[in-house]
Amino acid sequence: MKVGVLTGGGDCPGLNAVIRAVSRRLFARGHDVVGIREGWRGLVDGRFEPLGPREVSGLLPRGGTILGTSRTNPYRVDGGVDAVLEHFRTEGLDALVAIGGEDTLGVGAQLHAEHEFPVVGVPKTIDNDLSATDYTFGFDTAVFICTEAIDRLHTTAESHNRVMVVEVMGRHTGWIAVMSGIAGGADMILIPEQPVSIEDACKEIRHRHDRGKDFSIVVVSEGYELEGVADEGEVDEFGHVRLSERGVGAQLASQIEQQTGFETRVTVLGHVQRGGSPTPRDRVLATRYGLKAADLVHDGSFGRMAALHGDRIVDVSLEEATAELKRVPDDWFEVARAFFG
Ligand code: F6P
Repeated sequence: MKVGVLTGGGDCPGLNAVIRAVSRRLFARGHDVVGIREGWRGLVDGRFEPLGPREVSGLLPRGGTILGTSRTNPYRVDGGVDAVLEHFRTEGLDALVAIGGEDTLGVGAQLHAEHEFPVVGVPKTIDNDLSATDYTFGFDTAVFICTEAIDRLHTTAESHNRVMVVEVMGRHTGWIAVMSGIAGGADMILIPEQPVSIEDACKEIRHRHDRGKDFSIVVVSEGYELEGVADEGEVDEFGHVRLSERGVGAQLASQIEQQTGFETRVTVLGHVQRGGSPTPRDRVLATRYGLKAADLVHDGSFGRMAALHGDRIVDVSLEEATAELKRVPDDWFEVARAFFG
């Protein structure tokens, strides 16, 4: 078989480790691998590059993606789907491994449902919001980076008796905020799934000061609903606004300072969370996902996605994985809440 590989959506650490594992397993089984440039855009425009053992060597620790990525949605491009099908055919491809989140894999699921497109998915995103898998790769690295930042902010917060607000990514779910907040010992965590009001957050911060702790760490997810903060501005081809533009961290910091009288600063971690080398855990997860995806292709099991259930790598339907977002359940938030205030 000749198998295409693409990476779509926001990049994250571990993409190259998947490309390496998919390719190595496919080579071992006698197949050829072709890289598709910049996600679905590469299939719309017909941009390919052959991947051989030399191209996929040395990729395990490397951040980003050697194939490039984009948020192109062929269903939003005039003639996009026809171009994808045509380029796939003329390049002589037999199968596609799509490495992406809900948007990239959602396109794969739709193409498979409508055209029996031979696609297999690998769940990527720092947000960890894909259903039907316990974890996506990239998430562990993002949580590691945020936790380290929270640790650093702790020491300066304590020196200055300040409240430190840390804004993290996560779009419409609070996985990064909750996990890094628990790991970093946050005194308050605000996420889209849990409607903790600013008044209640300030009450907890005051309570902490009453207990003799003159500094606090507040972790807020970029998608947290704060009064006066609107989702406005340009949307991408999947209908998402840039949540970093909402400035929820800055608004929250100013409201906390006003309501409590405590000096407050904000740190927005931004794309630092997506950069650099993957953690060992993400390298291993990405590798296991890559091998599974290659096996699914080899077996002709299309419309499936590699997934983690407990400690086992399994396969699930792409449709199920992209039907709805996986939100932070109450019991995870309860772990965090036990340490508020
Ligand atoms: O989906 C991954 C993610 O990093 C989100 O957490 C964030 O909202 C978004 O991508 C940022 O996208 P961009 O790289 O286009 O600014």
